Amino acid sequence: MDLITEIAKRRTFGIISHPDAGKTTLTEKLLLFGGAIQEAGAVKSNKIKKGATSDFMEIERQRGISVATSVLAFIYRDKKINILDTPGHKDFAEDTFRTLTAVDSVIVVIDVAKGVEEQTEKLVQVCRMRNIPMIVFINKLDREGKDAFDLLDEVEQKLGLKVTPLSFPIGMGYDFKGIYNIWEKNINLFSGDNKKDIEDTIAFDDVNNPELEKMIGDDAATDLRDNLELVREVYPAFDNDAYRNGELQPVFFGSALNNFGVRELLDCFIDIAPVPQPKNAEERLVKPEESKFSGFVFKIHANMDPKHRDRLAFVKIVSGTFERNKPYLHVRNKKKLKFSSPNAFFAEKKEIVDVSYAGDIVGLHDTGNFKIGDTLTEGEVLNYKGIPSFSPEHFRYINNADPMKAKQMAKGVDQLMDEGVAQLFTLDLNGRKVIGTVGALQYEVIQYRLEHEYGAKCSYENFPIHKACWVDPEDEKNDEFAEFKRVKQKFLAKDKQGQLVFLADSAFSIQMTQQKYPSVKLHFTSEFE
Ligand code: G4P
Repeated sequence: MDLITEIAKRRTFGIISHPDAGKTTLTEKLLLFGGAIQEAGAVKSNKIKKGATSDFMEIERQRGISVATSVLAFIYRDKKINILDTPGHKDFAEDTFRTLTAVDSVIVVIDVAKGVEEQTEKLVQVCRMRNIPMIVFINKLDREGKDAFDLLDEVEQKLGLKVTPLSFPIGMGYDFKGIYNIWEKNINLFSGDNKKDIEDTIAFDDVNNPELEKMIGDDAATDLRDNLELVREVYPAFDNDAYRNGELQPVFFGSALNNFGVRELLDCFIDIAPVPQPKNAEERLVKPEESKFSGFVFKIHANMDPKHRDRLAFVKIVSGTFERNKPYLHVRNKKKLKFSSPNAFFAEKKEIVDVSYAGDIVGLHDTGNFKIGDTLTEGEVLNYKGIPSFSPEHFRYINNADPMKAKQMAKGVDQLMDEGVAQLFTLDLNGRKVIGTVGALQYEVIQYRLEHEYGAKCSYENFPIHKACWVDPEDEKNDEFAEFKRVKQKFLAKDKQGQLVFLADSAFSIQMTQQKYPSVKLHFTSEFE
């Protein structure tokens, strides 16, 4: 099959949610529809279980699972669906941000009772910044929750979205009767039997049809008619271009656990979700249908076996076809590399493939060549943009606790940072190393992995820093910048890419610095225009 046809078949997306909203359950139901798995419970949740075991053991368990769930692919209605896994735990938010650079759209899952939660807000904000098309799925309609219109308001206000419902619930919780599918104009009735896979669908293109009373009762029929009228009056009609430009977000209601509203979501998703999209490299915009392969590393996964230090680098194919055993240019290293056993993903299995297409993810075995953000091409020098680092929330000095193992320690820290576990800053003044993380959990991960994978021991020391600010002087030669560097010397560091960073100890200090040195811009992410 030719490249254009293959691209048209692909839908690569991520599901984002606050932990417990139902991301894993929805993923599993989507895989069931695709026939990729046979039974519920097959997809393991990669979330960190609370309290059960000590944190790092829990993380190791989670790591084992997340290798298997990094990419879940299946075929549905002749389309190849690639779901990219995004950890829900807030300490792994950075991982999720990076994965979002490799998706063409997302589905946002919201718990009907809890509404918009903190983690959803953060993740949606990132999607909005990048104009990623989003579909909202309001889950757990089998439970009592918030009023549908109140929830739609909340989604608009807290998430800054413009929504239009494409399905609407009939009742909720105890009184939940089913879903009216605005998109397909039919009704799905709820049997309450969660073992049933797919309900019968009743075509129903006129809600004024008196049959409605017979199906759901007088009160529910009146409510539904009123609600649908309100929907028509208040919300804009669905517009595919607006959705694809990230300006309008369709909303579906359902219950993932009971398999309700999931088929509607999937069928609509297949119709409207974008095919693999062009991506900006620093040099130019690259289109998927270009015949020459290019792609970038968005995730690196260390092998679970400490004896073999090989890693799996996840590459999103942006253009062309990726072929096994063909030499590709590793742009940063200026080296040609060949891959004899690239992995493709299908459901929970990975298998060696000869060819993959734009939109797909390939897993490449790596012995330490790759960093997050690296680009591979057929020879052209391209550098894909858009995998910025965000300012960490926690900062600690890292010290070598075993002088005999300095080399192992340096190598371990280096590789873990390439993997994106945390960020490393080296202080200008004395060369001391500072580890910045999103969550406190990462310090345990690093300590544990340094010891078990590299035989090195580290200790930490608190460094009370509020935020890392990437420094962007208007003029590197002016006196103001020189003065800034002199006064702030103690707080200046280089990140892993050698970019200058100001480690500010308080919000006040950032404010004062900006006032005093207006020509020195400070950014909270490592990439800025
Ligand atoms: P996550 O990946 O977003 O963290 O959420 P996950 O799917 O693991 O779901 C969190 C909990 O919510 C699970 O219950 C799951 O069964 C439940 N759930 C998901 N969808 C629905 C739904 O439509 N209705 C209802 N009532 N519950 C739903 P749990 O007790 O934490 O786990 P488990 O023991 O059932 O696996």
